[in-house]
Amino acid sequence: MEKNESKAMSIVSRRGIFYQSFGIYKEIGGFYDYGPVGVRIRRNIENAWRRLFVDMLQAIEIESSSIMPEAVFEASGHLSTFTDPMTKCKVCNTPYRADKLLESFYEKKHDYKSMEEVKKLSLEELDRKIREHGIKCEKCGGELGKVEKFNLMFQLKIGPTGSETGYLRPETAQGIFVDFRDLFKTQGLKMPALIAQVGKSYRNEISPRQQLVRMREFTQMELELFFDPEEEEKDIGFIELEKVLDTKISFIKSGEEEAIKASLKELLESKSIPNKYFALLLYLENRLMQEIGFDEKAYRFRELEKEELPHYSKGNVDLEVNTEYGFIEVAGNAYRTDYDLSSHARVSGVEITVVNNGRKFVPHVVEASMGLDRLLFSIIENSVVSGDREWDWLRLKESIAPYKYAVFPLQKDDKLLKKARELAKMLVEKGVSAYYSDSGSIGKRYAKADEIGVPYCITIDYQTLEDDTVTIRNRDDSKQIRKGIAELLSSS
Ligand code: GLY
Repeated sequence: MEKNESKAMSIVSRRGIFYQSFGIYKEIGGFYDYGPVGVRIRRNIENAWRRLFVDMLQAIEIESSSIMPEAVFEASGHLSTFTDPMTKCKVCNTPYRADKLLESFYEKKHDYKSMEEVKKLSLEELDRKIREHGIKCEKCGGELGKVEKFNLMFQLKIGPTGSETGYLRPETAQGIFVDFRDLFKTQGLKMPALIAQVGKSYRNEISPRQQLVRMREFTQMELELFFDPEEEEKDIGFIELEKVLDTKISFIKSGEEEAIKASLKELLESKSIPNKYFALLLYLENRLMQEIGFDEKAYRFRELEKEELPHYSKGNVDLEVNTEYGFIEVAGNAYRTDYDLSSHARVSGVEITVVNNGRKFVPHVVEASMGLDRLLFSIIENSVVSGDREWDWLRLKESIAPYKYAVFPLQKDDKLLKKARELAKMLVEKGVSAYYSDSGSIGKRYAKADEIGVPYCITIDYQTLEDDTVTIRNRDDSKQIRKGIAELLSSS
């Protein structure tokens, strides 16, 4: 863990919510493992996403291969354009992302205007500025080499002879595009067609940092919404489009610095978003953020500048959350047009078209791509409560908390232990998440449950043995109420 860690990261370290991978070996940046609490929170966030982006939209969900042949990325454009500008120290060989190096130089000088301009600079301009400002290696003070493009994909050889070159996918989306033609037929899809995928993606980041913010292996939750660009947008799944458009979100328009509160309808009218399907993606993200417990002041949407657009996009809006690292992107929404399907058709030689209203065409696509690890990181950061008790704790919403209940015997008395285990078992058998613990004092057990955000602690005491009632302690105010076990079970 980094030094001077925040309160949130101190809970993360203490409880092993996530931690650097390969701990007993040499540290390699950009890889993190999740401990038991992290796994549970993560799964709950994923399921909240699935309820909205798959079930509410009645989308289909697939799982495609993580390793893909070179042709896929020749078609997608990742082979030629999925690069970051890199410079290496001529003395100690430490690699740096040239743009990030320059940004942090301007940030230290509080020159925020120049900092903003960095994303517009070409390789040559980055190189020139680094020299002009005398920026040197942060580790050894050595001179930095020429700024060059570095492709972020992990390359590998497929099969024993190594004759086939493959890559770890840098986005789950490509599996959806490659499978689109077959899925459209076998699943009887119609326009608009919605295909989702959750899975690992891999990017060989030049300088991974900020914990889960810039990882080399990470999880994406992506939805591709394929549509007929000549047809009026329709309601999808259980969502009525016209109702969605009244939703107000916090939004920074391209070229602006301040966020405004605007309805999706207004953003459509001002052409900040390209169509109603794109608006639908923002609506769902806004809803997801609230469902997993973000305060609406903690996040905003931002229209990307032209220079920031990925190679496949005709318009992007990012969802950003405020964290100790400033606003970080947790989702990217892109209007990918027919770029991917047309490219795969061209490179594979296989026709990828659909027929709708008697017309044959290549569908267009809007995409919502969410980063699960970053969502987990930022919800933990945004949930820490300090100062009201002797320990810091996480105010996690019940829907994403690692467990709904912790069940404790008041003392180490065999009768209490047995009764408490029985109750925990009944809860688990009902499908309610609960854990049992009898280690340490009851006060310590409450503190540990608070720390990881468990909303309720149930305690079995001697009265329980007489009248089958328990105390239920509410995490948020530490108040306890007494309730019958039968009532507790029927209302859980
Ligand atoms: N699929 C969009 C991205 O990975 O950036």
